[in-house]
Amino acid sequence: MKKLFAVLGNPIGHSMSPLMHNDLFSYYQIDAHYLPFQVRAEDLEDAVKGLRAIGVGGFNVTVPHKSSIIPFLDEVDPLAKSIGAVNTVVNQGGKLIGYNTDGPGFLKGLTACYPSIKGKKVLVIGAGGAARAIYFTLAKEKPLTLDIANRTPNNALSLIKECPYSVVSHAYSLEEAGKQLVEYDLIVQTTSIGMSPNTSELPISVNEIKKESMVCDIIYNPLETKFLQMAKQHGAQIQNGIEMFVYQGALAFEIWTGIFPDVKRMRENVLRQLG
Ligand code: ATR
Repeated sequence: MKKLFAVLGNPIGHSMSPLMHNDLFSYYQIDAHYLPFQVRAEDLEDAVKGLRAIGVGGFNVTVPHKSSIIPFLDEVDPLAKSIGAVNTVVNQGGKLIGYNTDGPGFLKGLTACYPSIKGKKVLVIGAGGAARAIYFTLAKEKPLTLDIANRTPNNALSLIKECPYSVVSHAYSLEEAGKQLVEYDLIVQTTSIGMSPNTSELPISVNEIKKESMVCDIIYNPLETKFLQMAKQHGAQIQNGIEMFVYQGALAFEIWTGIFPDVKRMRENVLRQLG
């Protein structure tokens, strides 16, 4: 019988996950279908009960449900528990088990072109949900320092304090960090600054970026944010948010099917959708 997979969010209309996963199901000849469901916060518990009752194969969880889903699951993997957010759930013999593939997806996308952050000086810009998943995941990779720059440095400090993995870390304002960007080997932009339609906005001044650095932005609309364009002009190597999106999906697909899918195929599919 055809298995159902899903993504729960609100809003959910623009999700590229259904096309990405349905293409993979047909490519790997798996009898399954992936559907988006718009679920209000007050209906989340019922939605999970319904998916459980019909024997869902698995599902993704997106904004605003990544944290509030946790009490409705049977088990949560340790990294997702420490991040406090789940974006992927698998139904294992009736048990719903939650994972976070956002942070690991970012790391896997990064290491495809930047092999290791061990011993490197890393700066994360932002201290929201996406920053948290990325920061906790990177903290396990033993960077020399893992700093955060944020509009509200206190939010960065809280994030640093809550990280269960030991790492040397400082919190800075965006202005302070902008003056010392030359210090960093890797810079990861996780805020929504520069996202369409506000494409002329910059989170931080890039004048001090060193040309040997790697600069990532998790935004994929536009494909090259102003921040990435300017980093490239300074000679840095850049990566856009397509990689994190594709790899978080690839890791979810692997959790559901045991198959690590063809990432090149996924990337091409997503880029086609973005036009
Ligand atoms: P997500 O969960 O998608 O990461 P979020 O939790 O809303 O989104 O996080 C937003 C991040 O972007 C935060 O770091 C926020 O800074 P504050 O902690 O000071 O709120 C940052 N951010 C959002 N809009 C911003 C803006 N206009 N200028 C500077 N920082 C901004």
